[in-house]
Amino acid sequence: MPTKPRVFVTRKLPPAVEARLQRDYQPVLNPADTLYTTDQMIAGTAGCEGLLPCPTDRLNADAVAKLPASVRVIATFSVGYEHIDVNACKKRGIAVGNTPGVLTDATADIALLLLLGAARGAANGEHVIRTNTWSIWGPMARLGTHMSGKRLGIYGMGRIGQAVAKRARAFDMTIHYHNRTRLSAELEQGATFHARAEDMLPHCDFLSINAPSSPETNGFLNAARIALLPDGAIVVNTARGPLVDDEALIAALNSGKLAAAGLDVYTGEPNINPAYRTVKNAFLLPHLGSATVETRNAMGFMALDNLDAFFANKPLPSRVA
Ligand code: DGY
Repeated sequence: MPTKPRVFVTRKLPPAVEARLQRDYQPVLNPADTLYTTDQMIAGTAGCEGLLPCPTDRLNADAVAKLPASVRVIATFSVGYEHIDVNACKKRGIAVGNTPGVLTDATADIALLLLLGAARGAANGEHVIRTNTWSIWGPMARLGTHMSGKRLGIYGMGRIGQAVAKRARAFDMTIHYHNRTRLSAELEQGATFHARAEDMLPHCDFLSINAPSSPETNGFLNAARIALLPDGAIVVNTARGPLVDDEALIAALNSGKLAAAGLDVYTGEPNINPAYRTVKNAFLLPHLGSATVETRNAMGFMALDNLDAFFANKPLPSRVA
């Protein structure tokens, strides 16, 4: 019987995923869920052919260069792969797979939660209950704004953007979008395409950020683009923190240019810009996008499908390098 490949797993994974790893591989697991430094991760992969990292692990060009020669495949437990220098992997002949598709619904659900939570002041509502500072119902107390019937702009109309649009249509929202390429009429479902994001922003009562992090998209929501949004617009981000210029967003929330924001992702998370904690009109979640049992199992299984395919000399179900 051939020896099972050795795989270094950087974080604790769902039991069913670890059980499959134990069955089909010689995994080096992390039951204590220790957050490894890059050097610890590199040292841990000694003698391993596979590496199963998470978005919390940094594999820049330097780290990729230092990986042991034994490492031939990286199967990340994430759809996003900006934490891995895929060009450096290509140069070293290391295959890289990710997990698109399986976290679309969970992430789109969180975008809707953020849209509603930001529009209806959910953070403040929870705060007054928990701090026992709720002073009776009043006709003018804690007024939010409707999502229903409003215009939603989606920046990045891939799988997750389309799933957000589908949900928003149930609220009778009119959909505008910007994407690198225009979708087919079938996928567009009547949404209005804007070739330039700048042309879409004035039409956004709500804006949902759903593009991947890249040198082209990072810094997208800066002061100049916020200025193009209607006064009182609401912004949500379930993509990646670096797409937003934090200082510009915080200033716009504090000035009232934006009515509210809903954020699930942050630059430098979990060490977010501390000013967010004092912004009353921000509804803040701790990167919950894919955090359901069903989705985390599916992400793990897809990472394993990528490994299985690699070691069977078959095309990876989702290969990015
Ligand atoms: C991903 O897979 O990239 C997500 O951000 C994890 O929630």
